[in-house]
Amino acid sequence: MRGLVAMAMATAVAVLSPRAAFTADAVAGGHEPIRPLMAIAGVDPAKAELGRRLFHDPMLSRDGTVSCASCHVLDRGGSDGRPVSMGIDGRVGIVNAPTVYNAAFNLAQFWDGRAMTLEDQVNGPLTNAAEMGTDWPTVLERLARSPYAAAFRTVFGAEPDAPAVRAAIAAFERTLITTGSRFDRWLGGEAEALSASEKAGYALFKSYGCASCHQGAAVGGNMFQRLGFFASGGIRAGGPLPADLGRFNVTGRPADRNVFKVPSLRLVTLTPPYFHTGEVATLDEAIRLMGRLQLGRDIPDRDVALIAAFLGTLVDPAALATP
Ligand code: HEC
Ligand code: HEC
Repeated sequence: MRGLVAMAMATAVAVLSPRAAFTADAVAGGHEPIRPLMAIAGVDPAKAELGRRLFHDPMLSRDGTVSCASCHVLDRGGSDGRPVSMGIDGRVGIVNAPTVYNAAFNLAQFWDGRAMTLEDQVNGPLTNAAEMGTDWPTVLERLARSPYAAAFRTVFGAEPDAPAVRAAIAAFERTLITTGSRFDRWLGGEAEALSASEKAGYALFKSYGCASCHQGAAVGGNMFQRLGFFASGGIRAGGPLPADLGRFNVTGRPADRNVFKVPSLRLVTLTPPYFHTGEVATLDEAIRLMGRLQLGRDIPDRDVALIAAFLGTLVDPAALATP
């Protein structure tokens, strides 16, 4: 009982002060804040395979030029390497594309968490004018006239409809889990899986307090936090845009201004540029900025390099899907 109360308190503190929360956790003793990634059990392989085809098919965009994979390039970390994405007609968006790898573990989807599930998330890009720019009736009519119709009958026992398209794509995304990293092998007891610098980087990641927000199997994705915990103000060079209000746009609560989902850091070495603005080009700069904004600390270059080395151990490149 006492243990439960202590845990509940540590969780409550995490919302108020990352550093204090980490200390409380460390005093409570015991487990590492990062857990190994595990494949998700029970994903229907036939649904996932149909979802894989749909994910790569530009037929889902208005002019047939853009697929999910255009912006979530699976062999390049599941993002697009651009500050902001480019959709149909060369239209540009306003936020950076996160990776789709391990998104299945997010407490909600999008930077502001406005979609509760992977299934709901699909509506966003499909209808966004700067992304795929289409609508469900158009997509369903095309699918019905294509070889997909037979595949939907086999897998779902029915003609293509929106819930089935969403379910198939979400099933595929639930297979995009990057298991087997060196860090996870180290967690599993393989002491030699990490170098001395990488272990030192992990120790710093915990002692600075990064792990109070970036934690769990995905090293993020399991809470919302304010960007600018210690230093307030936006980070967008040209001044704030409505999207920079983050979670406030979903809940309307003043306390949610500039609050974002803490992103997973599992593939962070593969997915520059950084932050929802996509304006920070290098990982080193992102780490320094986090020190200043979230922890009120200037992190010296040596520690930045060690933390970056640790972050590189969080993914096994062999776990990325090939096109
Ligand atoms: C034009 C580029 C583009 C296309 C096409 C696109 N996305 Fe995205 N995706 C983005 C951007 C940008 C975001 C972040 C948007 C936001 O948070 O407001 C995003 C967010 C996501 C997320 C949430 C990840 C997270 O960590 O919150 C998932 C999942 C996702 N996309 C899957 C898909 C799927 C499935 C498709 C195809 C149906 C698709 N995307 C098509 C650019 C794109
Ligand atoms: C108080 C919570 C909190 C703490 C502490 C914290 N972060 Fe973050 N981190 C966030 C949030 C929220 C974002 C997303 C902000 C945005 O883009 O709007 C983020 C984003 C990032 C990104 C960019 C990821 C991407 O894909 O764009 C990196 C890298 C990062 N953090 C590393 C760190 C490191 C290293 C530390 C410790 C020095 C740290 N963070 C401490 C909450 C936190």
